[in-house]
Amino acid sequence: MKKIIAFSGSNSSTSINQQLVKFMASQLKEVEVEVLDLRDFEAPVFGTDLEAEIGSPESMKALFEKMSSADGFIVSTPEHNGYMPAVFKNTIDWLSRMGRKVFNEKPVVFTSASPGGRGGASALGQMLGVMPHQGAKIVGSHSVGSFFDNFKDGSLIDGEDKEAIKKILSELEATV
Ligand SMILES: Cc1cc2nc3c(=O)[nH]c(=O)nc-3n(C[C@H](O)[C@H](O)[C@H](O)COP(=O)(O)O)c2cc1C
Repeated sequence: MKKIIAFSGSNSSTSINQQLVKFMASQLKEVEVEVLDLRDFEAPVFGTDLEAEIGSPESMKALFEKMSSADGFIVSTPEHNGYMPAVFKNTIDWLSRMGRKVFNEKPVVFTSASPGGRGGASALGQMLGVMPHQGAKIVGSHSVGSFFDNFKDGSLIDGEDKEAIKKILSELEATV
């Protein structure tokens, strides 16, 4: 069975992006899904001096190894001041130094979620612009805005967001 790795770019214990990722994972029927939490892969702030001193942190090696086993990815990013959060950028910086592209030329669905109306669309737009350079073959994307109106009891409520998410997930299942 093909394997999807799903995670959010958040280190919040109450992350709405992680909640969205878990919901998306629950919708996949044809593939195995492993949901990761960046809180289990803490890393110091990347710097070339630190890298020269320690190489890669064990946490980043472990994450890289897990990602190597995946046939595809679901990634949901929060938006912090218009950008992806520092913890997510830091993770990508470490992973980008390990000898092959982070997403390994595999299919990826990118989403974002925010309590605001735009749903983190700026951060999502950055993903779509930069992650192909990290080997992401983007098969779909969607921003979920007004999260607390649109997500109840672990699930997106029926409506446009849920339909859009279903569509990109079926693209992912068809592509892996
Ligand atoms: C430092 C900071 C900056 C933020 N900037 C934005 C922003 O630019 N756009 C936005 O929609 N929400 C912004 N937010 C609100 C986040 O969307 C909200 O905290 C969301 O829950 C973050 O996702 P997470 O729960 O998955 O970590 C910001 C939150 C923080 C803490």
